[in-house]
Amino acid sequence: MNNTSKCLPINGTDYVEFYVGNAKQAAHFYQSAFGFQPVAFAGLETGLTDRVSYVLRQDKITFVLTGALTPDSPVAEHHKLHGDGVKVIALWVDDAKQAYNDTTKKGAQSDFEPKTISDENGEVVTSSIKTYGDTVHTFIERKNYRGPFLPGFVAWEPEYQPKDTGLLYVDHIVGNVGWDEMDKVAGYYRDVMGFDQLISFDDNDISTEFTALQSKVMANDNMRIKFPINEPAVGKKKSQVEEYLDFYMGPGPQHVALATDDIVATIDALRARGVDFLHVPDTYYDNILDRVGEIDEDIEVLKKHKILIDRDDKGYLLQLFTKPVEDRPTFFFEIIQRKNAISFGKGNFQALFEAIELEQQSRGTL
Ligand code: FE2
Repeated sequence: MNNTSKCLPINGTDYVEFYVGNAKQAAHFYQSAFGFQPVAFAGLETGLTDRVSYVLRQDKITFVLTGALTPDSPVAEHHKLHGDGVKVIALWVDDAKQAYNDTTKKGAQSDFEPKTISDENGEVVTSSIKTYGDTVHTFIERKNYRGPFLPGFVAWEPEYQPKDTGLLYVDHIVGNVGWDEMDKVAGYYRDVMGFDQLISFDDNDISTEFTALQSKVMANDNMRIKFPINEPAVGKKKSQVEEYLDFYMGPGPQHVALATDDIVATIDALRARGVDFLHVPDTYYDNILDRVGEIDEDIEVLKKHKILIDRDDKGYLLQLFTKPVEDRPTFFFEIIQRKNAISFGKGNFQALFEAIELEQQSRGTL
């Protein structure tokens, strides 16, 4: 790590925490449908009174599913307003106090001040700042912590441990923000976190006849943290970002992209376990090779699995998007396999938009 870098030193995504209506059932969904492995638990049995959390892991991806035990729990309030969604994007740092002091000095709002938490497995320093909407970035300094997750959690070892689906790490996390807020939020990541802008799209790039969006991608210096920020753009009908904002009741994380090194096997496994993906029209594959050039995979196999392809000047990528994974049409997942591409599938946004509009139409929200 370059110490003279203006960028906040971040080792990677530590965990993603979802506030949900029923953490026990959500945890089961991530086990059975996505193949996450049980790791840790906190709740009444560990002395908590207002919430319960299940921690699951698949390779480098850690999810925390948290539900409320009481109506006045902040978890219940968050869930009442937003439905199921991502509350915490936790960042793994070497110095959580320094990260807090640096970012708050540069204008970040505090979520909570640095504190040391400990149990018989060691200690962790944590602090937290606010970002777009009600979302927060919690800094986690693990030192030599030896427990299953964080102090206060106990190992969760159910008999039910279904096989993984080949998911490896968080590739990027997209935020949806309101009209004219993209530059402000991108500026927050630039000024407060020291991130740089990777690629910019404008609404001419990402639109159909009816709906549009604008996006800026902010990334840290080691590229382990990539946050595309979307805002709606003017179209004849309501864009997917607007639909999200209406149902999430404000800005929030739109999708988490999970990387695999065998997307065909991963998509196959996820579909077999009941994960619903966005419909990709067969016409998408007409002339696809003219657009993306030569690829290693058999195009018929990709067509059969409805996997999307895009290319940039570094390489190509394969990706597919799930349908929303909760009751409201808000948060979803992307499954991505990079073949040296560093972009995010701009060439697929057109096909994606048309597919999403079909979904919106069926919901009556277009
Ligand atoms: Fe994405």
